[in-house]
Amino acid sequence: MEIIRIPKIMQETSKTHCLRGKSIGFVPTMGALHEGHLSLIRRSKSENDITVVSIFVNPIQFGHNEDLSNYPRDMEGDIEKLKSEDVDTLFSPDVMPMYPHGFSTYINVRDLSDKLCGVFRPGHFDGVATVVSKLFNVVKPRRAYFGQKDFQQTVVIKKMVEDLNMDVEMVTCPTVREGDGLAMSSRNVYLSQDEREAAAVIYKTLISASELMKTGNPKPEDIKRHMRDMLKTEPLISEIQYAGVYDSETLDELNEFKKQNLFAIAVKMGKTRLIDNMFVEALNTKL
Ligand code: PAJ
Repeated sequence: MEIIRIPKIMQETSKTHCLRGKSIGFVPTMGALHEGHLSLIRRSKSENDITVVSIFVNPIQFGHNEDLSNYPRDMEGDIEKLKSEDVDTLFSPDVMPMYPHGFSTYINVRDLSDKLCGVFRPGHFDGVATVVSKLFNVVKPRRAYFGQKDFQQTVVIKKMVEDLNMDVEMVTCPTVREGDGLAMSSRNVYLSQDEREAAAVIYKTLISASELMKTGNPKPEDIKRHMRDMLKTEPLISEIQYAGVYDSETLDELNEFKKQNLFAIAVKMGKTRLIDNMFVEALNTKL
């Protein structure tokens, strides 16, 4: 596996692949790799000639009071995992070449960035959109792979790709879970053992809410109440940031079901912020 740390060298390498007609699949990450990341890599490998993975803990997507300095890092372990997945190239730049002194161009995907997680993490999606567009310009992928776990991120980046005529195909891959249903996340290592066990309630709540869709004739507000009531039974949840039924395109809260509905949750478990979501189809076939 080739390891590249300088953006210009990555760009030249990608240019050569493109000139030779090779398709590049790209998996952007912040490292501390787990099976969720690896599932994206396997998908990319199955669909492209070359797979590039980036590891870059992007400072501009973290708020002032967030976990940038503690964010889990394990470069040696990550390199081993990438080698055993037979990844072609790891692109892992330092902060300075990505954001040199005087860096001043930011991407803001309006409206979508301010909803759901954006309410609690102002500026976060500007940081994500900016770094992903930089990475796309450097890596020049034909396809880029993202996880459904961070659903809003996929919506924001898809909109950026469309609005800015970027020539990249966006592929969203299913959420990979632990045995008890907890969505895998690099941040799960922050959880104490008690919190880790308690965190399973998030997925259980999504499942239970989706079961409720099959009984009676609930409204989105009934689902929302059910979700919040169930999350409130877990005393280790310190804050419910949002829980409810949303439009998967606009990310607005729904008053009436559509055919496909986004059930989404964000909570704080102690100091750790956890998110999860699920698509649930309305049974009413007239929708
Ligand atoms: P990171 O949190 O490292 O995630 C990298 C990619 O892995 C994202 O597309 C994320 O949705 C996906 N992923 C994480 N957990 C997953 C799981 N359990 N199942 C499936 N996919 C999962 O997301 C970021 O980094 C950053 O915001 C980034 C896009 C790299 C920009 O800095």
